[in-house]
Amino acid sequence: MTTRILMCAPDYFNVAYVINPWMEGNIAHCDPALAMRQWQALAHAIGAVADLEMIEAVDGVPDMVFTANAGLVLAGKAVVSHFRHLERQREEPHFARWFAGQGMPLFRLPDDIYFEGAGDALFDRRQALLWLGWGHRSDAGSAPLLADWLDIEVQPLKLVNPRFYHLDTCFCPLEGGYLLYYPDAFDAKSRHRIAARVPAQYRIAASAGDAAAFACNAVNIGRHVFLNQASARLRKTLEEKGYQVHQIPLSEFMKAGGAAKCLTLRLDEPVATGPLPDLAPGSGPSAG
Ligand code: ARG
Repeated sequence: MTTRILMCAPDYFNVAYVINPWMEGNIAHCDPALAMRQWQALAHAIGAVADLEMIEAVDGVPDMVFTANAGLVLAGKAVVSHFRHLERQREEPHFARWFAGQGMPLFRLPDDIYFEGAGDALFDRRQALLWLGWGHRSDAGSAPLLADWLDIEVQPLKLVNPRFYHLDTCFCPLEGGYLLYYPDAFDAKSRHRIAARVPAQYRIAASAGDAAAFACNAVNIGRHVFLNQASARLRKTLEEKGYQVHQIPLSEFMKAGGAAKCLTLRLDEPVATGPLPDLAPGSGPSAG
């Protein structure tokens, strides 16, 4: 089965407002031609191992390139995002129309509950479990709705560092059962929650430097890991576990607070079912 990923070309991408700390001082500071080349390099690399779907970019909604925030798709059902900021709420009808056009049943949040899609909701790869980041963008109140609509256990994680405002900026479950994450982005209770469900030998803690370079904002497909940049040490750790790391510079998108993972939405999430697989540490992910 081929992986399907939704992307949106940066035809109208720019930093036009400030809704996260990365955007501060960067209004109109993106190089559009460079952004296009970086996005194309990412699409080309991911396109080698996955089928890419494209949603047409819309003028006036510059953050629409970050399709991770379009919604959350599981088993052909789409939960449409409801953004906290007005600037991004304008993307909602465009993404909803695209999901509907795919024949997906749509689930919508009530007006007073925010949920920013796969940017804040990541499926565990060892067990049938959805991790939900809240505290900056999505509301914890979306957890019971997601659990009901998608028929999956949801574990909320509180994000406490404004630079890591979406879960996918600091947390990346990897096929094969490992978890790449930045512990300092979470409160103590959430770190305990993670430890309770992901054994120590499967947790890969990113350094502050790697986290700041968006190394946790990685797209993982089979053994491939696509990211902006990772230290030699982190690359070695991942490679020892069987992953192949592809570094694709995404400086222009980082000015808006996003990198590789933010620019993609997985349309066929592989959710673990049944009992926990008994993975030997170092056995790594399946080929693909
Ligand atoms: N400027 C966008 C925002 O603040 C960036 C979104 C990044 N997306 C993500 N999934 N982390 O909403």
